[in-house]
Amino acid sequence: MPTQVVVPKEVATGERRVALVPEVVRAFTKSGVAVAVEAGAGLSAGYPDSAYSAVGATIETDRTKLYGSAQLVLKVQPPTTEEVGWIPSGAVVIALVNASRNLDRVGAMRDRHLTVFALELLPRITRAQSMDVLSSQATVAGYRAALIGAELTPKFLPMLTTAAGTIRPSKVLVLGAGVAGLMAIATSRRLGAIVEGYDVRRAAGEQVRSLGAKFLELQINAEGTGGYARELTEEEKKQEAEMVAKAVAEADIVITTAAIPGRRAPILVREPMVARMRPGSVIVDLAAETGGNCELTQPGSTIVAHDVTIAGPLNLPSQLPFHASQMYAKNLQSFLSLLLSKEGALVTDYSDEILKGTLLVAGGSVLHAPTAALLAGGR
Ligand SMILES: NC(=O)c1ccc[n+]([C@@H]2O[C@H](COP(=O)([O-])OP(=O)(O)OC[C@H]3O[C@@H](n4cnc5c(N)ncnc54)[C@H](O)[C@@H]3O)[C@@H](O)[C@H]2O)c1
Repeated sequence: MPTQVVVPKEVATGERRVALVPEVVRAFTKSGVAVAVEAGAGLSAGYPDSAYSAVGATIETDRTKLYGSAQLVLKVQPPTTEEVGWIPSGAVVIALVNASRNLDRVGAMRDRHLTVFALELLPRITRAQSMDVLSSQATVAGYRAALIGAELTPKFLPMLTTAAGTIRPSKVLVLGAGVAGLMAIATSRRLGAIVEGYDVRRAAGEQVRSLGAKFLELQINAEGTGGYARELTEEEKKQEAEMVAKAVAEADIVITTAAIPGRRAPILVREPMVARMRPGSVIVDLAAETGGNCELTQPGSTIVAHDVTIAGPLNLPSQLPFHASQMYAKNLQSFLSLLLSKEGALVTDYSDEILKGTLLVAGGSVLHAPTAALLAGGR
């Protein structure tokens, strides 16, 4: 019997992505895996049902039947507790679970005895790069952030020499130069702005400069383990704030992307700094989902404070769903090369470092210690 893979339509408000795109479905059906896609699952991302059926997928209109037939459920967002109730015990679920923010769903999947791989837990090792959904979706978010900034500013980004006079280029400041920040820098540069970047990891300086932007230097190196940042000391925070405040005051658009995994986003832009910005300036806070890098950010809203427009967009990858889904699906295809045998059967040996690191729930237990602790604490 071929493995039965199901791709449901995402139900989260505003979610336009889909876990598999037809091009990737084709690769699965060719290798003998059966793929069932919920009717309309890819529509809001630009992939009609006909594109899926053309590559050998079955289209299912009955959600409970779809889930009920699953051996492997592929999703972007974690299944809701209702959806979990439709999935047969023992089935495998792969999604961006965001476990700490979805404890009820994690608990439901544990109690249902599902095997759950949470893609946000993927170890950041070279071999896992092609599976890294955090990176691919951050690429989309960084691009969208630059465009949102360009849309909200009352200014041109590029320098223009016209019969109506010369226009000075806009200044864009990007705080946090990880995957999203670097993409925001590259996109703002392509739009013709003068760009500055800043990150607590000094290693990011070279990448920022290679994109034609200036790197703001502070004599601090806060690179922690695994390429992520560690938290700064109080004195370091003060120095950072002074340098950042000056750069923020001079910028037309500030794009903030600073994050520390598993923690609230660091606050880099305080209210007095916003008040020092020129009227009409813009802040695009990519960290809105984890509390925001700007003190005034309202997640999910665009507000005006001190004559500065502050956007706190949520789920930016969903705003570019065609390519966000394509990249997500390619990441999944790569991840599944570890989980499906050559004959298309699900493997049960999860000893591979990547599978082991990503495995959130199995055999009625939550295996990721921080999530298990949160669940035990009843939070
Ligand atoms: N497989 C791999 O090897 C792999 C895959 C993806 C990313 N990475 C690397 O991991 C690093 C982080 O990636 P990410 O984009 O997912 O990070 P992230 O989303 O966790 O954080 C975004 C950025 O915010 C920065 N930051 C944190 N606190 C800050 C502060 N107070 N001020 C300014 N900046 C601050 C971080 O250093 C990071 O660059 C990058 O170097 C990236 O290249 C490696």
